[in-house]
Amino acid sequence: NQLTIFRTFTNKDIERFCNYNPVKDFNRCLSEHINAVPSNWTREQAEMIRITPENTTNVINEPFPRISPDVWIWDMWPLTEKDGSIAVLPGGWRVLFALTAPKSVLPGKRHDVARIGYFYSRNGVDWIEGGTVFPEGASPGSREWAGSAFVENGRVNFFYTATGRRGETQLTFEQRIVLATANVVSNLDGVIFTNFGPHRVILEPEGVLYQTLQQSQGGGIIYAFRDPFFFKDPATGCEYLLFEGNIGGLPGEINCGPGVPPEASLYTGNIGIALLRNNNYTEWQLLPALLQAPCVNQQTERPHMVVSGGRYYLFTDSHRFTFAPGLMPGPGPDGLYGFVASRLRGNYVPLNGSGLVVTNPPQEPFQAYSWLVLPDFTVLSFIDNFNLQGIPIEEVGLLPPEFQFAHFGGTLAPTLQLEVLGTRTRIVNELAFGLMTVSETESPKCPNKHLDRNKD
Ligand code: FRU
Repeated sequence: NQLTIFRTFTNKDIERFCNYNPVKDFNRCLSEHINAVPSNWTREQAEMIRITPENTTNVINEPFPRISPDVWIWDMWPLTEKDGSIAVLPGGWRVLFALTAPKSVLPGKRHDVARIGYFYSRNGVDWIEGGTVFPEGASPGSREWAGSAFVENGRVNFFYTATGRRGETQLTFEQRIVLATANVVSNLDGVIFTNFGPHRVILEPEGVLYQTLQQSQGGGIIYAFRDPFFFKDPATGCEYLLFEGNIGGLPGEINCGPGVPPEASLYTGNIGIALLRNNNYTEWQLLPALLQAPCVNQQTERPHMVVSGGRYYLFTDSHRFTFAPGLMPGPGPDGLYGFVASRLRGNYVPLNGSGLVVTNPPQEPFQAYSWLVLPDFTVLSFIDNFNLQGIPIEEVGLLPPEFQFAHFGGTLAPTLQLEVLGTRTRIVNELAFGLMTVSETESPKCPNKHLDRNKD
């Protein structure tokens, strides 16, 4: 609430936060990262993963509302203000972006044709479909994968993943982080994006901090350099992108220690971070990762941050099949995992000891995925492979298309409400399907935040 916001920030903090200049303040921002080393998610911690009533959702049954008659949706993210609060546009609209694919596409093939679409709503639960955001062929990739977006003075900065290369005839898996811009225009009738800027590649891995695709081809499993999440640190005003990466170098280079299966060295997921260095969001400096999971997990997807009570809560999604071999009693489930530190560059410790925050009920372990925690600790996700009734996930893609279509949600799951007390979390409520509440961050509130955004 307002009181704690005032108490945690001095006038100087507010001034620094609101007037951050990435050129002038670059060295100040860089200083805390220079000798930083990533926090580790260890095998010992991952072996403490347990499925409990505190982290398990209810079984999802049909009928449930579907956000679109035409497209599947999966990874979703809100249009925010620069401080991470959910934006409310003139006309009263909240905007939700999501990866989309036509419903004619087999669920397992959707990643190959993904485009970013958008939806808008006044009450956060009845969503109107706006269509795809970018014109066909605008992206330098062959498909558009997850990202984040914020609005500033009527201009939206879209950060997303361009996967593959535009025009390629064979799918390739290079992932580059791209910035695109557009004006957002809204009134009582709805929301549109106009006046698009060029799509620019702003981040690529350099092979030392972050693995390149070429390095990964030495034998790694599913490679990542993707899912940019814009984050403005309330304590410093410094502006960052977080993203999913893999530790730089060749697969298998890491020594996992005695007693660990040698193949575990192929698992090198990390949560990367880059610092803004110019005023138009096109230049970023790669920094050492915030967190890494060597010998533990290959994928730390869709990393995102919520600051609450002065603590930094770093969340990521991961799959059962990307946990390293040999963990006891077994690999962790598909789930939302979280870590907490006392500052951006602090030592991140796993929430609940193991990191596990949200997972599916054991009888339907793949029914939802891609959890995204908003500043009020509500959690969005999408309905994935539901009502499988024990059919192994590996077999679903081999079953007739009718079965695959009938057991894929491709729409928003019930929104969850988390309670977070220090390093412990618990699901306290399941809310409406796809509800997105207007949540504020605890960052200082800057003047002119809610200026009319339709000026130009
Ligand atoms: C998570 C994810 C993201 C990626 C997208 C591709 O569900 O794997 O990491 O951007 O899906 O469809």
